[in-house]
Amino acid sequence: MSLPTAQFNHHKYQAFKPVELAQRQWPNNTLVEAPTWCSVDLRDGNQALVEPLSVVQKMQMFKLLVEIGFKEIEVGFPSASQSDYDFVRELIVGGHIPDDVTIAILTPARESFIRRSFEALEGVKKALVHLYNSTSKVQREQVFKLEKEGITRIAVEAAKVIKQCADEASQTQWRFQYSPESFTGTELDYALEICNAVNEVWQPTAEQPVILNLPSTVEMSMPNVYADQIEWFAKHIAHRDGVIISVHTHNDRGCAIAAAEMACLAGAQRVEGTLLGNGERTGNMDIIIMAMNLYSQGIDPQLDLSNIQTISQQISQLIQLPVHPRHPYIGELVFTAFSGSHQDAINKCMKVYQAGDKWEVAYLPIDPADLGRSYEEVIRINSQSGKGGVAYILEQALGVQLPRWLQIEFSQQVQAYAENQGHEVSAEKIVTLFEESYIDSSDADWSLNTYNMTQQFDPQQKSLSVQIQKQDQAIQLSGEGVGTLDAFVQSIEAHFKQVITIVEYSEHALQIGNEAQAMSFVRLKIAGQLYSGVAKHRDVINASLSALLAAMNRFR
Ligand code: KIV
Ligand code: ZN
Repeated sequence: MSLPTAQFNHHKYQAFKPVELAQRQWPNNTLVEAPTWCSVDLRDGNQALVEPLSVVQKMQMFKLLVEIGFKEIEVGFPSASQSDYDFVRELIVGGHIPDDVTIAILTPARESFIRRSFEALEGVKKALVHLYNSTSKVQREQVFKLEKEGITRIAVEAAKVIKQCADEASQTQWRFQYSPESFTGTELDYALEICNAVNEVWQPTAEQPVILNLPSTVEMSMPNVYADQIEWFAKHIAHRDGVIISVHTHNDRGCAIAAAEMACLAGAQRVEGTLLGNGERTGNMDIIIMAMNLYSQGIDPQLDLSNIQTISQQISQLIQLPVHPRHPYIGELVFTAFSGSHQDAINKCMKVYQAGDKWEVAYLPIDPADLGRSYEEVIRINSQSGKGGVAYILEQALGVQLPRWLQIEFSQQVQAYAENQGHEVSAEKIVTLFEESYIDSSDADWSLNTYNMTQQFDPQQKSLSVQIQKQDQAIQLSGEGVGTLDAFVQSIEAHFKQVITIVEYSEHALQIGNEAQAMSFVRLKIAGQLYSGVAKHRDVINASLSALLAAMNRFR
């Protein structure tokens, strides 16, 4: 069989040219606050959908975005789509726009389209008119077949029409935004020139700023290069005080979030993106991830994502795209550790965290509980898991703190079970395995009926008489020893003619509702073999004797 001829040929690509930027500042900066967010789910996100949203679905999405706390929402491209037009009208006429939310619409640089966009916006209290035209070298030369002057003229003429339309509808508070579309494929000095030309029309001031949005319409370089572009632009743009630098990154190289974050270090004040990163090709910048990244650094993201699970389910349903199980912060598996050493570390750190207030837990960048995730999801058990994970599950489920020797013993049993089954072992199954292995007794087992202990003259020395029972057979045992357990062992040895050594013993208090109980763990060595038993009782001596009997029963 012959394979198809390989087309894979890196020689046809060229490396992106770095920006000449003397003494770049952004690598020394840190993020200290959230940028202004603008959701473009209803425009860029919607444009990328196999099945664009209906007006009803757009309204659901809009309400969700408002609930999350977006103050700027790009709601559509009303001059190009009737459905977007109808939706914008419904938002305005139906009074659905809260006073503190500004809607934005996108318009191309064509007079008829601009006028139609203003028609769609009639009666709105405040709005952002977002003008774009493509400025990249490849588009100028191969798509529009125009020189730079021609492209600049298109933008400037459109900016004038927008200003005129806005002046004619002065009851609305208008704001303007310009995007040199394909900014990343545009020579930096030309991007600056065209933005300055548009601003000469709009005359921005600190009170009436213009948004200059610099999109990586196609992500073409590493995010540090994009950050250089933004820093260079911010340094050279005229009317700097009247300009809000905005970024709008796409994810072609998988770095849309990093690019937006680094752009903020470099001076960007506003970030456009979508929830879950839906958008053309590999998508837009995922605002949820960037916001949560800020949150994880102790910065208020200014968006309420505490309900992220419900939000992502709703978004996923609306856009008809599944959420990947490893989607940062949201995916089903992103807080889960299967590996034994990770589970062990998480288990230990969680104990330390309970005593403090600063989150510092190995393998978990944020507290899953902040996003409504349960700790049960954190540690899941399969054949790669170890003692820490199994101990963690039992502690969560039963409040039991297994001693280390029993953690090792029981985790081996669970691992063998997982290997045998060939799949994950649920928390319920782990509890059942534990109870069957160490606690449960059958009719054929001995159980404790009563005991009576008397102290000898030597306070260490104990005399014990115990009644144990198996079905209808009850026997009375008695013995003396150093401590209660020792006395019990003496009595059993005498009765069953068996040499027994206690090799491990521990107990801890257990709170069940309002009641305190004792949990005892015993390991015996009998005829060279080890047997472990566990028991729980309100009376600590009863718990210890019963645990010893449970271990004996395993032997018998
Ligand atoms: O990706 C892009 O360049 C856009 C612009 C219209 C801002 O979506
Ligand atoms: Zn875009």
